[in-house]
Amino acid sequence: MQLLSPLSALPLLLTLTSLSPLTTASPAPRAPPPNLPPPNPSSLPHRTLAGIRLVDTPIVRDAEALAKQYSPGSYNHVMRCWLWGALQLRHNATLAAQVDLEVHAVGLMLHDLASAHNLSHPFVSADRRFEVDSAIAAANFIRGHRDGGEWPDWRVQRVWDGIALHAEPKLALYKEPDVFAIYWGNELEWSYGRPGGQRMGITEEEHAAVMEAFPNEDGGGDSDGPSAGLLWFIAWYCKYKPESTYGVWGCGAGLFAGWT
Ligand SMILES: *[C@@H]1O[C@H](CO)[C@@H](O)[C@H](O)[C@H]1NC(C)=O
Ligand SMILES: *[C@@H]1O[C@H](CO)[C@@H](O)[C@H](O)[C@H]1NC(C)=O
Repeated sequence: MQLLSPLSALPLLLTLTSLSPLTTASPAPRAPPPNLPPPNPSSLPHRTLAGIRLVDTPIVRDAEALAKQYSPGSYNHVMRCWLWGALQLRHNATLAAQVDLEVHAVGLMLHDLASAHNLSHPFVSADRRFEVDSAIAAANFIRGHRDGGEWPDWRVQRVWDGIALHAEPKLALYKEPDVFAIYWGNELEWSYGRPGGQRMGITEEEHAAVMEAFPNEDGGGDSDGPSAGLLWFIAWYCKYKPESTYGVWGCGAGLFAGWT
């Protein structure tokens, strides 16, 4: 076979190099400044639930509707978590000044989007941790939303990280305030009023008002209490998604209890 001389190969090379940017190009990125600040909290619309002032923008409303539609069994739980988080901010002005209220609200309301014990659920994968499935579904929701499409990447990333790490204090507590505040909103659900648990300044009256607005009817399982329900909850993943669940909190305890 006759070898191409370097010169005769040139047109081919030019063709290839001029084509490759076209074939690999991704959609033109919108590039908002990465350090664009979140909206000023006092300029955002709000509503009041259980006596708590909450951010009330279209994306926050739509996140709530999504949580209701896709995880009806955990809707009251995620709403309580959002309210615990909002109460934590009420009691900590330093943290409140650091947290992006929309990121916080969307992250907490969508943190269980893919927690259904159902491998046919549109957000549930066969192999990823449910926190990762939920984070992916939440990021897709934001990207597809009229307002969320305008969010700079870092805001979407904070939601993703907050959801993916919402049960991993060893990581979440060392992340940005948005991320650890999402962690705390969920943690307070399990921690408040338990021996050794945290309250983050939330009073009994505030706690009772949230429980009344969003009762715990969705504890899950034939358990003796919410922590037993939590182990029942994670045992399903140990059984059906073992590769991404072994080593995760609760899995060892679930196995020990013979739940898989
Ligand atoms: C309030 O939040 C800040 C972080 O923003 C934290 O360092 C501080 O410990 C918190 N205070 C309390 C009482 O939890
Ligand atoms: C699982 O999800 C699929 C798809 O959304 C749905 O059709 C099915 O009813 C669900 N199964 C259960 C047991 O909820």
